[in-house]
Amino acid sequence: MSSDTGKRNAAREALKFVEEGSILGVGTGSTVNHFIDMLASEGPSIRGAVSSSDASTDRMRKLGIEILDLNSTGDLDLYVDGADESNRLLQLIKGGGGALTREKIVAGASKRFICIADHSKLVRALGEFPLPVEVIPMARSFVARQLKGLGGVPHWREGVTTDNGNQIIDVAGLTISEPIKLEDRINAIPGVVTVGLFARRGADVLLLGDENGVERLD
Ligand code: 5RP
Repeated sequence: MSSDTGKRNAAREALKFVEEGSILGVGTGSTVNHFIDMLASEGPSIRGAVSSSDASTDRMRKLGIEILDLNSTGDLDLYVDGADESNRLLQLIKGGGGALTREKIVAGASKRFICIADHSKLVRALGEFPLPVEVIPMARSFVARQLKGLGGVPHWREGVTTDNGNQIIDVAGLTISEPIKLEDRINAIPGVVTVGLFARRGADVLLLGDENGVERLD
């Protein structure tokens, strides 16, 4: 079961990685929202943040955190984001909040990725959480048929348009025994923008919070 205290504890621990005057990559979701709030109220002062979603951008702007464009910052030292699932290799499923494409870009452009989550997100094998796939709208049904061919049960997240103007398919029932292979395979389907498997570029540090504290996996 997901715990808000666990999310808060993980978010607070991540503040210790943030350096004064740095430019930070910031993810999306309820755990990251705690991180953003804590960064603004009790964190070190930073130069600015590269945001992974319009929602995080709005939240940070309201709290006085400057938003910077990745095209002008160069690579980032640190990215902080949540996850829907992680295995012990720190390979992740992300995209429950629909921000997977920008999240993957910012994670890819960052030297260190600190993932924050409540302890229930740690799993033995990825795939119980339906795997989000962002698709170009005209390719949705075609991509869904391809995903069925891979053994999954695709479900269109109807009514959701991503920040990039695309749609999301959530794929249940996949056995993800080889996350890197599956990530490559799904990314190769024409019309797929991004799959929410973060296996090629997983997290470097996973901070798992619960009611009692935080477990760190590297
Ligand atoms: C958004 C994400 C989030 O990191 C993921 O859904 C976890 O969210 P939360 O912190 O609310 O549990 O990938 O696209």
